[in-house]
Amino acid sequence: MSTAKKEYKRITVKSLIEMKKNGEKIAMLTAYDYSMAKIVDHAGIDVILVGDSASNVMAGHETTLPITLDQMIYHASSVVRAIERCLVLVDLPFGTYQGNSRKALESAIRIMKESGAHAVKLEGGAEISESISRILTAGIPVMGHLGLTPQSIYKFGTYTVRAKEQEEAAKLKKDAKLLEELGCFGLVLEKVPATLAKEVAESISIPVVGIGAGNGVDGQVLVIHDMLGMTHEFNPRFLRRYLDLYSEMNGAFKQYIDDVKSKDFPNEKEQY
Ligand code: KIV
Repeated sequence: MSTAKKEYKRITVKSLIEMKKNGEKIAMLTAYDYSMAKIVDHAGIDVILVGDSASNVMAGHETTLPITLDQMIYHASSVVRAIERCLVLVDLPFGTYQGNSRKALESAIRIMKESGAHAVKLEGGAEISESISRILTAGIPVMGHLGLTPQSIYKFGTYTVRAKEQEEAAKLKKDAKLLEELGCFGLVLEKVPATLAKEVAESISIPVVGIGAGNGVDGQVLVIHDMLGMTHEFNPRFLRRYLDLYSEMNGAFKQYIDDVKSKDFPNEKEQY
């Protein structure tokens, strides 16, 4: 099954901007380890996001706040070793860029230098503009992230849809414009009304990649564990599950346990 797309040898931030110009949607998924990244890259994904959602799905934390810069570098370098074609984008984790642009630059440089990734993503608008500008001066491509920004969960209090009220929507539109003006190559819009997301995407020249932001944006991103159906307890409306891997894996593990207990495994052909 394939859809109209141009063949890019290697995806760069320039190719993503070109995709927007050509009306080709950007496909992005998270990945955090070598084996998964290899499969995703071979499938032809445009961008792998080494998201700080690793804090939830890989480490079992309730929020994205605890993950450290060292841990993000570990995940990102594992992904980078696997890929041949896609762009690898890495989240700057909580506490490594807010309120201190020098620290932000140092954090971004560590990610680029120690993992070999291609770009970084930061959550927020005007309040982190100094950090964004300083990272950009080092030649590091930056993607913004507006709408629901999980690193600020204790400020929001819930994971519900953002920018439903006019005041917050107006700030979001202003922030999107600012990110474009600062020189970001794109932005993620998370969990905002589809009409607002479409308006934002149409108002700026850099690609807007949505998660729970409808179909009027320039691309989509999902957390890989969610779209594979490995997480059963997370059921937001925007999530499309492409597999029920939880059940598939559970069945395989049960079968293996039975085979070992019943002495069926290994058989004669499976031994030396
Ligand atoms: O960390 C993450 O996975 C993300 C996506 C939800 C966009 O930031």
